[in-house]
Amino acid sequence: MPSAPAAAPHVFVVFGATGDLMQRKLLPALYALHTEGRLPPGTAIVGVARHAMDDATFRSSCVRSLTADPSTKEYDARAFAESVLSYFPLTGAAGQDYPALGQRVAGLEQQRGLPGNRIFYLALPLEAFPPTLQGLGEAGLAKAPGWVRVVIEKPFGRDFASAEALNALAHRYFDESQIYRIDHYLGKETVQNLLVFRLANAFLESDWNRDRIEHVEVTVAESLGVEGRAGYYETSGALRDMIQNHVTQVLALVAMEPPARRNESDIRDEKVKVLRSARRIQPEDVVRGQYTPGTVAGAAVPGYREEPGVPADSTTETYIALRLFLDNWRWQGVPFFVRTGKRLPEKSSRVVVTFRAPPVSFFQSERDYDLNPDRVTILLQPEEGFEIAFEVKVPGRELRVQTHRMKFHYSDVFGPLPDGYETLVEDVMLGDPSLFVRADEVEESWRLYTPILENPPPIVFYAAGTAGPAEADRLAESGGHRWSTD
Ligand code: BG6
Repeated sequence: MPSAPAAAPHVFVVFGATGDLMQRKLLPALYALHTEGRLPPGTAIVGVARHAMDDATFRSSCVRSLTADPSTKEYDARAFAESVLSYFPLTGAAGQDYPALGQRVAGLEQQRGLPGNRIFYLALPLEAFPPTLQGLGEAGLAKAPGWVRVVIEKPFGRDFASAEALNALAHRYFDESQIYRIDHYLGKETVQNLLVFRLANAFLESDWNRDRIEHVEVTVAESLGVEGRAGYYETSGALRDMIQNHVTQVLALVAMEPPARRNESDIRDEKVKVLRSARRIQPEDVVRGQYTPGTVAGAAVPGYREEPGVPADSTTETYIALRLFLDNWRWQGVPFFVRTGKRLPEKSSRVVVTFRAPPVSFFQSERDYDLNPDRVTILLQPEEGFEIAFEVKVPGRELRVQTHRMKFHYSDVFGPLPDGYETLVEDVMLGDPSLFVRADEVEESWRLYTPILENPPPIVFYAAGTAGPAEADRLAESGGHRWSTD
């Protein structure tokens, strides 16, 4: 088997180094790469933030974050911190901060004999992207003796116009090939497996179209609420937070045409075509919900309007269900139902593809109503794998039919899967943009949803711990469909 490609040594600069994302996701991913020997030798990680702090304090806080995972030994985390991590405080004077950061990076390169490759990771809120990109660009840090890559977290914009403006600003300083727009769903093994599942199994691919498929569902359900992130969530809501990015990426992988070649540009071209073919969404295709007090996993939880920092008359949606149509040859007339929400009974993300019923029905199900249609369920999380539901005869003289499932779960075969961030961070180091979102892709996605953002239908309510508003069921039922319940 060919050995995995090795990344070149570099300096990895994280803006927002004291923030939640760095401490909860990025740092553990970098540490995992280090312990697995996949962090290139000599690589230095520089945390950047506004807090005045020295290297020792920063390292200690990182060790604390890493050892929050009981499997991480303090001795190992400290050794990693001492050998790799340092801190650079911003003073707020961009004209001085960025050139000084450049000098710090150049100093580390000299000290460690590094070839001058740099990654700038913007683990920042949306409003901080423009000044940071500008600061880097104006200080000449978009160029270096080696390669320079910039990673931009979500949300990439708030609507079509702001995403277009952010792209324009980024392109003023960086070439598109240097820009890595992250969507952590693309790092999940099961999301990547969507293409293998579809394109390596020819029997499926020949049925993957409007002739055989009745409707497609993408569900991303969470039991968590806003978890102290009300400040951000109030300005976002479920459409911006989950649908425009994660859910749309999953949808594009389910619906895209096979690419001409398995390379990043051909795959991303096909995903963009899916988004371009989406029909304009009508208000009656949208249900926006918000959770009221309820019970999740046996515990009483407050409603969204009672969460700290949320105004008592907030109309931000914590749940959204949409019906989409793709006007292309493969999917004409097939509804795609997508939904996501917080404070639902459990965390569960899945794609459910429901096939058309046989043209002539010879059998009725055991309980004397129509047969369940065949279904392929692709489990994204927390269970990962796929299941195929089909009809079988119950043994006996009487002709009775029952639905059964064939199941494949990753954990039964391969054990635990790596975290999406680990995969994506390593891809940036390797210079592989396949699992990142291209400029045109992010714009097309915002173009699709901006009419709803500009003219949102009124909010409806659901109690925390229930499956979402009844209006979402009616959205599916109006076309004779049903959301999956398992
Ligand atoms: C983030 C959202 O992008 O994804 C959060 O901002 C959400 O609101 C999270 O909880 C879900 O990610 P995952 O990997 O837990 O499904």
